[in-house]
This record gives sequence, C-alpha cells and structure tokens, in this order.
Amino acid sequence: MQSNLNTRASAALHVAVVMDGNGRWATRRGLPRTAGHRAGAEAVRRVVEAAPGLGIGVLTLFAFSADNWGRPRPEVAALMRLLRAYLRAETARCVENGLRVSVIGRRDRLAPSIVRAIRRVEHATRGGPRLHLRIALDYSAREAIARAALGWARAASPDLELLGRMVAQSAGDGPAVPDVDLLVRTGGERRLSDFLLWECAYAELHFTDRMWPDFEAADLAAALAEFRRRERRFGRLPDPPRAPAGAHDAASALDPRMARVLPPEPRRAPADPLGGARRARRGRATGDRALRPGVPARRAVRGPPPHALHPPACGRDRRTGLRRDDPSLHRRGAAARARPRPVPGAQCDPHAQEAVASSPRPTRAR
Ligand code: FPP
Repeated sequence: MQSNLNTRASAALHVAVVMDGNGRWATRRGLPRTAGHRAGAEAVRRVVEAAPGLGIGVLTLFAFSADNWGRPRPEVAALMRLLRAYLRAETARCVENGLRVSVIGRRDRLAPSIVRAIRRVEHATRGGPRLHLRIALDYSAREAIARAALGWARAASPDLELLGRMVAQSAGDGPAVPDVDLLVRTGGERRLSDFLLWECAYAELHFTDRMWPDFEAADLAAALAEFRRRERRFGRLPDPPRAPAGAHDAASALDPRMARVLPPEPRRAPADPLGGARRARRGRATGDRALRPGVPARRAVRGPPPHALHPPACGRDRRTGLRRDDPSLHRRGAAARARPRPVPGAQCDPHAQEAVASSPRPTRAR
C-alpha cells in the first residue's frame, strides 16, 4: 500500500463507497430488506460499468462488514447468497470489460463456496487493466490495522510506510493500491463505519442522502465533479503553479547544463489585474490553484527572481555578440572588467562554481 505521506500524481482515482440504505429503500416500499440488497447489487453493476469512464482506477465497495455478522441470520444468509451469485455471474463480464476483481477482508469465516468463487474471479480477472474493483467482505479496518501492528512492532525499521503496506496485506493479499482519494457514503449517514480507516487518512468525504439502490452513474459523476473542485493539500500549502511547457528552453539554449541546474522559469508577476471574484473564476477555469479564493495574490508568482535564472555571465554581450563567459570579452575594457569575473561554465555548473571559489583569482588583463 502506498502511503500518502507523499502526494500522489497518479491520474486514476481510488474511490471507496459505503453502500448504505438498502434496508430503508426496501422497507419504504413495503418490501423485505433483502429486496433492497438485490436492488443494491443492480446499483453495483451500474456504478462498476461507469467507473472507468469517470477516471476511476480503483473502486472499493463495502459489501459486508465484520459487524454485519450481527444482523439477523436470514439477512446474512441472503447477503452471502447475493455476493456469491454476483461473483459467479460477473466473472465473465469482468474479464470481457478488462476489470480486475479482488476481495479484501477475512476469508476464514466465509462459506467455502464463497471462498472458491472469490479465488476464481480473482484468478480469472488478474490481468484486468481498466478498473480494479475491490469488494470488502467480512472487513474491519480496525482489525486490519491491529493485525498489521502486531508484525510491525517486531520489524527492524518500523516506519509508517511499512505499516501502511502491512495494513493492506492484512486486509487481503491483492495487489497494492494507492490510498483512497474519495470516499462516498450513501443513505444519509455521515460516518466511516470501520471502513478503510488507514487508507482514508487524506480522503475527501462525500455524503449523500440518496439510498444506495437509487444511486446512478450520474450521482457518481456528480460526486467526482465536486471532488475535483476541492483543493487537496495533504497538510501542506497549495502546490506552486506548474511551469509552462518549454520553460527550460531559454536556459537550455544557452548551455545544456542550464536545463539541469536551473529551476523552472518564474511566472511573470501580474499586477493582479483580476479582482477577487474574477481571480477565483479564472482559477477554476484554468485549474490554477494560485488563483483560487483564499490564496493570496502573491502566491501567483513563485520561483526565484529572473536574475537568478539568467546569471549575467551566461548571456551574450549586446555590443560584441560574444557570450559573456567568453574569456576574450574580458580583455575588452572597463565595462567587461566591472562584471564579476566568470570562468566558462562557472555560473551554469555548481561544480565549476566550487572550483572558482577555491582557485586563486585570475590577474586582470589591462
Ligand atoms: C448497507 O445497507 C448495505 C449492506 C450491509 C450490504 C451491501 C450489499 C450490497 C449493496 C449488495 C451486494 C454487493 C455486491 C458487491 C454485489 P443497510 O442494509 O444497512 O441499509 P439501511 O441502513 O437502510 O438498513
């Protein structure tokens, strides 16, 4: 499991869903609760189908918690039948649609027929590239963390990265996935209910009153649209604006080493011609975080001042057209002598710079 100690740049999102409201959906219609679970399984099909097209790479669904064993036996039995039927029936469709399926949670309390169905679907879909569908079954985040902590305490170098990996392993031996980006809970409740507590450390939370059987692809799309408007900071300050493409070009045209050592071209400092509301609109339109509300205008300008990017000695002498680090230029008069005496490449290469500092000053040419 990759910890979000480092921010993630991956494009595909990890979305986790607490599918709540099946029972209420059914009782409001005068139906048995199990009818709500059946309708919930249909919602699962809709959402799974829509997920890859919405930019989701990993979808983790909370199908049965470790605490759900406390429900009436007939409801537990109906849920288990439904899950087994889903796993069996969907295997071929998942393969066809390029889905990888894995199940997280304990297996030792599941019926052997369900464990077999899990193994079969995991094996058949193991190469699925479009979406990794994870179904949490007999799952408890606290148990997963507690089991991982036992081994972690004995590890040679117990750091958080390792604990994260061990938490993931203790929940299931499927492939590693990134932390949760967005957690959706339907059914009007606003809690995590022991679901992916470690992995949700920096998840954005989306709660909706819609009951899970009524949840449509459009609801997921709306949740993602809201998610994409949020600014994720992982406890830090907003990211500096990206350098425009080709920002290094000017530098590398001078000396290839410049491209290696110079930071990106700074953005020109706008005199903040946009008022607060217009800045915010432009920020939303362009995705420029620095222009969002609450971000002081000065954050729009990042990076070192221009002279730090273009040390004078690496440019060309306007009068002669020679590079300013051309030694012959420095035999040409007072103006040249007045400049700091450059050694070829010294301003461009930190190692050369060191060499200059430790070598005796060259005598001036008169
Ligand atoms: C919570 O709603 C839902 C569950 C405990 C089971 C979720 C199962 C499914 C959606 C169907 C099968 C899943 C898959 C992956 C095929 P609830 O019953 O607690 O609703 P309530 O809060 O209204 O009582």
